[in-house]
Amino acid sequence: MKINDKTFVPYIRENELQEAILSIAQAINRDYADRKPMLIAVLNGAFMFASDLIKCLDIEVEVSFVKVKSYEGTQSSGKVKQLFGLDAPLEGKDVILLEDIVDTGHTVQYLIKLLEEKKPASISIASLLFKPDALQIPVDLQYKGIEIPNIFVVGYGLDYDGFGRQYKEIYCLEE
Ligand code: IMP
Repeated sequence: MKINDKTFVPYIRENELQEAILSIAQAINRDYADRKPMLIAVLNGAFMFASDLIKCLDIEVEVSFVKVKSYEGTQSSGKVKQLFGLDAPLEGKDVILLEDIVDTGHTVQYLIKLLEEKKPASISIASLLFKPDALQIPVDLQYKGIEIPNIFVVGYGLDYDGFGRQYKEIYCLEE
């Protein structure tokens, strides 16, 4: 599969992704059985993950979005910008941040700081993918889908320069 100048090959199949999402949803259903958490999906990348995850939840939840940007091409810029979101009152709420992928950890660290100012009762993080070898900042990930090496991936919401988000599977850069 080609996106702009790069070739990508299949890496994580649809059923593996869906199994990982179901097991995160089951853990959230169990851990929040007597609460009504506020799920905040990090746009753009987490829109598919958020949509599939939320359909597997049987507890009551609120859903909101925040939009940030940190990637340029296939590299994290290390600087995170908030483009919109986090305007809802969160005081006393149990927040679960939904991320497509945790790479360097800068985005999650930036968002946790912003969230803490709003005095929620608790904050936890659910990420579909996680690159432990790329982590630069320690991140407490309560709900982890699939660990991958430090490679660039697209599909299932993740993009390369804005394209490739529509696929049901995850692809990686061809060697
Ligand atoms: P971090 O701030 O470095 O942890 O990166 C987090 C954000 O960078 C994610 O929410 C993604 O939007 C983007 N990102 C990180 N790795 C990849 C990748 O392999 N493909 C596409 N986007 C990525």
